[in-house]
Amino acid sequence: MGASKNPHDDISEVLLNEETIAARVKALGAEITAAYPGNDELVLVSVLKGSLVFVGDLMRAIDRNVRIDVMEVSSYGGGNTESSGTVRILKDLSGSIDGLDVLIVEDIIDTGLTLNYLTSYLAGKNPKSVRIVTLLDKPARRIAELPVDWTGFEIPDKFVVGYGLDFGEHYRNLRYVGVLKRELYASIIGEA
Ligand code: PRP
Repeated sequence: MGASKNPHDDISEVLLNEETIAARVKALGAEITAAYPGNDELVLVSVLKGSLVFVGDLMRAIDRNVRIDVMEVSSYGGGNTESSGTVRILKDLSGSIDGLDVLIVEDIIDTGLTLNYLTSYLAGKNPKSVRIVTLLDKPARRIAELPVDWTGFEIPDKFVVGYGLDFGEHYRNLRYVGVLKRELYASIIGEA
């Protein structure tokens, strides 16, 4: 079964609506602003593509000077639902983070394997600090333990899309986080 023409038809449940997300992102922005007093450079490292929407909103909720850089990594195969544990860097940082505060911005932490790899990789570039903010956390699926500094929402082990998160590169533009109907990915996990 493929994606419907109307993406909303493929959602079984809205887990986090637009207003709930907006309020939490605003609060995270205020906490992050308070955590980095002074004028030292803060580099937000957006992990593409999933964090595209989150970083756009979060950066505008942070009331201090920031620099944005992006990395693109891939841990899931296209259309797959499970993390492979193999992280590939598709796009590296553009600027130096030597001696700077770095805040990694993620959309979701699942097994933790992606960020486990990424934090060590960035630590090797001699930053002053590396911290993590994630919109969503699925603690039930964690394999690699990580120090997560800010979490928007802990969510149950359901396949979610929207607000940047995809299935087969679709649904990223939904304004809410929703649960994908199981029949859309059942064949991939061997159920149909
Ligand atoms: C997703 C998500 C995280 C990672 C989390 O990225 O954005 O980077 O998986 O999974 P983990 O904790 O099990 O490692 P994905 O590879 O799907 O790419 P995308 O951000 O381009 O959608």
